[in-house]
Amino acid sequence: MAAESALGFPVIAVNEAQTKHLFDNRYGTGQSTLDGILRATNLLIAGRHVVVAGYGWVGKGIAARMAGHGALVAVVEVDPVRALEALMDGFTVMTVSQAAPWGDLFITATGNINVFRREHFALMRDGAVMANSGHFDAELDLPALREMAEGHVREVREHVLEYDLGGKRIHLIAEGRLVNLGAAEGHPAAVMDMSFANQALCAEYAANHHGDLENTVYDVPPAIDAEVARLKLAALGVALDPMTPEQEAYVRSWQHGT
Ligand SMILES: NC(=O)c1ccc[n+]([C@@H]2O[C@H](COP(=O)([O-])OP(=O)(O)OC[C@H]3O[C@@H](n4cnc5c(N)ncnc54)[C@H](O)[C@@H]3O)[C@@H](O)[C@H]2O)c1
Repeated sequence: MAAESALGFPVIAVNEAQTKHLFDNRYGTGQSTLDGILRATNLLIAGRHVVVAGYGWVGKGIAARMAGHGALVAVVEVDPVRALEALMDGFTVMTVSQAAPWGDLFITATGNINVFRREHFALMRDGAVMANSGHFDAELDLPALREMAEGHVREVREHVLEYDLGGKRIHLIAEGRLVNLGAAEGHPAAVMDMSFANQALCAEYAANHHGDLENTVYDVPPAIDAEVARLKLAALGVALDPMTPEQEAYVRSWQHGT
């Protein structure tokens, strides 16, 4: 919108604050996605083949939590750097077509549409489970799934729909909406506090600087990010060492150690 001069007011991209996406997206969504899937299905995660679509901050959190519960995790990505990161974090990287017949549980976290589609549903195993923890319920091609089931859809547990594709059943949690909100309680307050602190401090910043701001997108001022981290550490009772004056001088110098 900024590029097309379509913004009617200045915007501060709170999601890009480190104290937002490193924690809310990664640890908040990682934990609450697992929570939603467990509440809805009571699946044993250990030993399962779990496919995570998207290895951004949300996907990283989900993959780590699933691996922590003993799952074999495969990642599907479109970005080569993120795919390489997933590989070197110890996950298998596959195409969606390779992952579809391999996976037991599929979780989308891309912010994109139709990541799993008709041709992938056709390859999935009987009993496969799908959940979305990304943006909207459009990450899975649900109209195609409904069409393939030809009306053979029933609720097998609260929040779990079973689509019968002629003998093969595919399970969908929370109607493909955000699984951590649909089948659990969303993120713990102890991580949302940082997201909301960023929003509140950025709103204050915008109010105080509105005369200087243009109708474009701004990063969260680094001082706000650092302040949120400082406050969170203080709330957790964690102390940090400041650098000594000697260390400060050393790391700022180009004459020593380079
Ligand atoms: N469930 C929640 O509570 C919650 C919380 C925070 C963010 N989100 C949402 O989760 C989504 C991801 O957030 P993020 O911070 O990880 O974003 P991100 O941009 O860091 O990561 C998204 C990743 O998905 C990949 N991707 C895009 N299209 C793809 C495709 N077709 N197949 C495979 N991978 C694909 C991108 O390359 C990228 O690496 C966003 O839509 C965000 O709004 C949800």
